[in-house]
Amino acid sequence: MTVSDSVIRPRIAVVLAAGRGTRMRSELPKVLHPVAGRPMISWVLDAARAAGCRRIVVIVGHGAERLRAAVAAPDVVFVTQEPQLGTGHALAQAAPAIEGAAQLLVLSGDVPLVSPRTLEKLVAPSAWGALAVAELDRPERLGRVLAAAHGGLERIVEAADASPEELEVRTVNAGLYALPAPEIFSYLDRLDDHNAQGELYLTDAVGAAAADGERLELVPLDDPSEAWGVNTRRQLGEVHRRLLERHLEALMDAGVTVLDPARTVVEPQVEVGADTVLHPGVSLLGKTRVGRGCTLHQGAWLHDTELGDGVTVKPYSVLDGAKVGPASQVGPFSRLRPGADLGHGVAVGNFVEVKNSRLADGVKAGHLAYLGDAEIGPEANIGAGVVTCNYDGQKKHKTKIGKGAFVGSDTMLVAPVTVGDDAVTGAGSVITQDVPDGALGVGRGRQRVIEDWARRRARHEES
Ligand code: UD1
Ligand code: CA
Repeated sequence: MTVSDSVIRPRIAVVLAAGRGTRMRSELPKVLHPVAGRPMISWVLDAARAAGCRRIVVIVGHGAERLRAAVAAPDVVFVTQEPQLGTGHALAQAAPAIEGAAQLLVLSGDVPLVSPRTLEKLVAPSAWGALAVAELDRPERLGRVLAAAHGGLERIVEAADASPEELEVRTVNAGLYALPAPEIFSYLDRLDDHNAQGELYLTDAVGAAAADGERLELVPLDDPSEAWGVNTRRQLGEVHRRLLERHLEALMDAGVTVLDPARTVVEPQVEVGADTVLHPGVSLLGKTRVGRGCTLHQGAWLHDTELGDGVTVKPYSVLDGAKVGPASQVGPFSRLRPGADLGHGVAVGNFVEVKNSRLADGVKAGHLAYLGDAEIGPEANIGAGVVTCNYDGQKKHKTKIGKGAFVGSDTMLVAPVTVGDDAVTGAGSVITQDVPDGALGVGRGRQRVIEDWARRRARHEES
């Protein structure tokens, strides 16, 4: 029987995630540290799912409660490893959770760059088992893989236990394996901790199977960075950067211009349409979707935001939970908050804040405005300094502005209030009553002119 007999053996992922991760110097369990916007371990779980694992066993220990809360899902079972005596001991804990024969994909929660393709390749060969290997220029503290004459595995030696010659080997163990259950468990039962770290090494169990004459295929990674593990904050930074880089590469291949990839952050779930141009210093986060032919300038920060086609976001604009229709212009220095919903060809400019408001097609709000809980009709013009006074200290109220309305500069709209279609408000007005369609609403002190005032003051000061 081989590990690839998937007809008989269900494919189950076991993710090792109980370790303390001491070198991170953190309160947070290592595998929960976010990379590219999500906990490290989520990337591993996703890869396992994409590779057809219907069940995932997660080995938890250090920070178990937080880990359970963070990754609970119908296809995930948790097994506790307490105390944590090493990777071999960790996998051994999975035995009771796995009934009968299975094809195990054993993954490390701290190796998040693993791709589904790699996992498919691990289960493909008709060997007893397989492990992913990579040739790295800087193998650092990763386990070194020694190949047998027949090309399969001979054994793995941990960096801490390696001789100087063994440290010269640049083929590393990525910590990703396909192994048959229950067979692997009998090797785990026989492990000892006679090594530099005093741990029960999974790598020794794999070596023992090879020594027994079982064939373990060495599967080279197409992208050696998949082997990068996270033991330190520096490695966390490298892995984060690599995840972003991968996504930027895919976007560029699909027709997006990224002027300076090293200074552009696009999280992996973000979609960007072809012919969109991303200037340096753009951040696209969460579930953001950008249309085709958009231009995003320096400092555009978008989170969970949707842009239609042909939108321009000028420098230093912050958009969170917003929707912007096609051919609209936002910024510079605009802030769109959750529920901001802009139609077609809207222009929102300098220091304009919009929250929970619908701005219909062609609305213009060029300067220094606060628009909250408002419904603004097509082609309305919002002057500089307009404020919807939507909050009375207890409740939020709605402002309605009709189509084609002209709200004069510095108008305070004390909600609830309606400005009708084609209505106008005088600059500097405090509007507390509805303005009917086509009417002018003025609410301000009448100007007084005192003739000859300056000369009279001067004379007064002399005396
Ligand atoms: C391990 C491998 C090494 C490989 C590297 C790849 C062993 C002995 N060494 O080393 O050959 O190159 O991964 O990244 O397997 N864990 C537990 N329980 C434990 C100890 C660890 O669940 O008792 C988990 C950790 O949370 C981590 C994973 O197993 O997610 C790997 O453990 P870690 O201590 O980071 O192993 P490495 O020293 O990196
Ligand atoms: Ca590790």
